[in-house]
Amino acid sequence: MAPFSRLDGTLHCEGVSLEPLAESVGTPAYVYSASSIRGQFERLDRALAPVPHRIHYACKANSSLGLLGLMRSIGARIDVVSGGELFRARAAGFAPDDIIFGGVGKSPHELREAVAAGVHLISIESEAELRLLNQMAGEGGAVARIGIRVNPEITVETFHEYIKTGQKGDKFGVPFDDAHAVARIAHALPHVRLVAIGMHIGSQLTDLAAYAHGIERLEALIAALRAEGVSTLEHVDIGGGLFVPYDGEAPADLAGYTSIVVPAVQRLGLGLIVEPGRFLVAEAGVLLARVLYRKRSGGRDILITDTGMNDLLRPSHYDAYHRIEAVRRVEARGRFDVVGPICESGDFLALDRELESVEPGALLCLFTAGAYGISMASNYNARPRPVEVLVDGDRWGIITARESYDDLIRRETLSPAWSYS
Ligand code: LLP
Repeated sequence: MAPFSRLDGTLHCEGVSLEPLAESVGTPAYVYSASSIRGQFERLDRALAPVPHRIHYACKANSSLGLLGLMRSIGARIDVVSGGELFRARAAGFAPDDIIFGGVGKSPHELREAVAAGVHLISIESEAELRLLNQMAGEGGAVARIGIRVNPEITVETFHEYIKTGQKGDKFGVPFDDAHAVARIAHALPHVRLVAIGMHIGSQLTDLAAYAHGIERLEALIAALRAEGVSTLEHVDIGGGLFVPYDGEAPADLAGYTSIVVPAVQRLGLGLIVEPGRFLVAEAGVLLARVLYRKRSGGRDILITDTGMNDLLRPSHYDAYHRIEAVRRVEARGRFDVVGPICESGDFLALDRELESVEPGALLCLFTAGAYGISMASNYNARPRPVEVLVDGDRWGIITARESYDDLIRRETLSPAWSYS
């Protein structure tokens, strides 16, 4: 079943009509198709079948508990980058051995939590972090399993500068020229065990050659380490980054991807770790927005909706494109700015977009909103964050309730418990 389709002119998610769903749960609302997530996971799992592999869902893309539960049920493992994500993963029932912990700036507290949890591996990104982790693991009487995230320092093509992570000077990973020395130190330290060499070169990668170049560099490093007697390596981790179409582009070339990855992994004789985020959830999700007003200003037609940059940051932050359609089809078309209610000119969902000429009250559907949508949402303008709904066949259920006004001030107080210095 296609995750989103039209029946009698009205958009459906699987077997659920979006119009009555929005009536029932209100807007803005994120709606996710379970079958889409299952389908993407199976495609990737099948493509990687020729090599031993672990698919660790990069839950920064969407860490809502209901989605994590679904991921776990279909056999995904998980990649976390903060104590909070680790907490979410555990709450969703992921076993410690199914969790990998990364991130460029893990605090001592977070490292301690990761060691205590006994995660499958902690990916370190600097020598200082490596030494701190070794010390902490020693204090806890543990040996921490680690990977080293290398910055392969290659040219990366993505749709936006902010999501390139494998180029010279980027803050991520151990710079390639230092990686050998850091790996040697890791090998020598008593309270860490070096089990993986990895990279994550960027998100929404438009050119597969970057994977080939990056893996080539990892292979060289691994060969050099093996030549020195390092025999603890179990995995090569190539991160996430698979391309997802937002505007009718060709989807990720999985066959091309595996034609690069599989032979390299076979040459290395290691297991493969991948960390897909967007690929698994982006297309599974839509955001439903209600048109409140129509306005004409300075020659522009503006649709003011109840959904803003606090609900979906990507258009204003990255100039990202999300396809928009009216849930109930309208014949007439026009050009519109689709904006939110937030008090900023940067609060838009689309600018100068050709669209159905809808009237106030119409329901709009923003596509490809499953990744980096709710996970980047905020309470700006004291707006409660949206409800999230999971659809599975002809049934739907709320996985995250809409925030309430009480939620907004739950941690706050009018009268602090003063301390005196
Ligand atoms: N692994 C690491 C270490 C990462 O930093 C990321 C994403 C991933 C895996 C997953 O990448 P993916 O498969 O989703 O491309 N907020 C941006 C995307 C930021 C990506 C950050 N890192 C957006 O909305 O486009």
